[in-house]
Amino acid sequence: TTTAFKETYRPQFHYSPPTAWMNDPNGMVFYEGEYHLFYQYHPHGTVWGPMHWGHAASADLVRWEHHPIALMPDRHGAIFSGSAVVDRRDTTGFFGGGSGLVAMFTHHATDADGAVSQRQSLAYSADKGRTWTMYAGNPVLTDRRFADFRDPKVFRDEARDRWGMVLAAGDRIMIYHSPNMIDWTFGSEFGANEGSHDGVWECPDLFELPVNGDETRKKWVLIVSIGAKADRPEGSRTQYFVGSFDGERFANDAPPESVSWLDHGRDNYAGVTWSDVPETDGRRLFVGWMSNWMYADRTPTEEWRGAMTLPRELALREAEGRLTLVQTPVRELGALREAALRLEGGWLDPTAANPFEGFALDRFEIEAEFELRDASEFGFAVRCGEGEETLIGYDAANGSVFIDRRRSGATAFHEHFPCRHDAALSPRDGRVKLRVFVDWSSIEAFANDGELAMTDLVFPAPSSRGLRAYAKNGGVRIASLSLYRLQSIW
Ligand code: FRU
Repeated sequence: TTTAFKETYRPQFHYSPPTAWMNDPNGMVFYEGEYHLFYQYHPHGTVWGPMHWGHAASADLVRWEHHPIALMPDRHGAIFSGSAVVDRRDTTGFFGGGSGLVAMFTHHATDADGAVSQRQSLAYSADKGRTWTMYAGNPVLTDRRFADFRDPKVFRDEARDRWGMVLAAGDRIMIYHSPNMIDWTFGSEFGANEGSHDGVWECPDLFELPVNGDETRKKWVLIVSIGAKADRPEGSRTQYFVGSFDGERFANDAPPESVSWLDHGRDNYAGVTWSDVPETDGRRLFVGWMSNWMYADRTPTEEWRGAMTLPRELALREAEGRLTLVQTPVRELGALREAALRLEGGWLDPTAANPFEGFALDRFEIEAEFELRDASEFGFAVRCGEGEETLIGYDAANGSVFIDRRRSGATAFHEHFPCRHDAALSPRDGRVKLRVFVDWSSIEAFANDGELAMTDLVFPAPSSRGLRAYAKNGGVRIASLSLYRLQSIW
């Protein structure tokens, strides 16, 4: 690629397309040593348009290679979101007895009379995702009752030796199964009266995870993204349900009205997980689109628009009878670290010296553990410059983690972009851990080992590189504090 990846706001350790518009991650699958990442792509502009699948791949989830467009609109329509799996035993018959990659996605079209049709189709690749063939029998699944009928996520249902699939139908998730991905049988639907319905349901994912790492105790997790609604300042966001799955039916463990958010920031949407990660690895790996439909087409980038979150490992943690989906940035990212500062103890209060004095950084990671004392609030100010700073901290008075991007840089492109938002987090043994990744246009905060994730875009001036740790109205003990400069992946 000829793009230098040094434009203003260009993510330095997150995936973004060389040029043009990107939204949802699609078709993530691990195959023959490569993590594939496809994505909703409009190559002819920096706003949403007729969708293609862009393509990138990585050996380590850190450094990405850009590949040519994988799927282009055809006579059935544009290529909306979907998934990909490895068809190891040629259940589809696409691979002459061998194996290959199968993508299942939504064909989106608008008929002459203006009616929208969303139908599910297949494409396959026998050359490690480099070239794709549309299945001649497309579409493979149609249901004219639903105008919104999209985002199929296929998974191998090992226990029943068949394929399972979930997709979003407006206000509910439909569950299907198939021996060959071509003929689908309806199992059940879930959710018309559960969770949040603040927006249209999109981009589901269904997978099993051990509880507290105990392989003998597993639960199913259903991720559902919900679209933006004009009257709601949060815009689009992602919820999850934990429960059981019998091959046809998902049953929610929680009361129907309870809502669990996957990320408490504004910019983690439409995320789903990688398929076919080897059992020897055993991780459930997630990536989301780091934007929000509320303002996605107005963010102040020029050559490209859209980036992915860091890849994260998902796990289920049970504490005090409650199951939480926890997120940890993948360990491979450690390769980008350059040690800058390490404190094994310290103290912060309004008169204390700034432990980061003398540093000027525009991409870095902070890992810290605090022991609460009498400070009402403490945390970090990052990307500080002329009238600019972004705060990430703990509000001890309210027991919540927050990000404040009201003065983060360019914020005027949408009325709801400048904001401070928070989410409840209880200290553990009087302590709070914060891990923060700062890039040229994003903040990702993880509290108490991933129990809470908060992802937000920010657009600071390139010269805003100051950082400080602070405490207000009292003190807080620093149990440990590390600062790492992060290398660019480009
Ligand atoms: C989610 C979404 C999907 C759809 C795609 C279109 O962000 O609306 O439901 O398939 O984007 O680009």
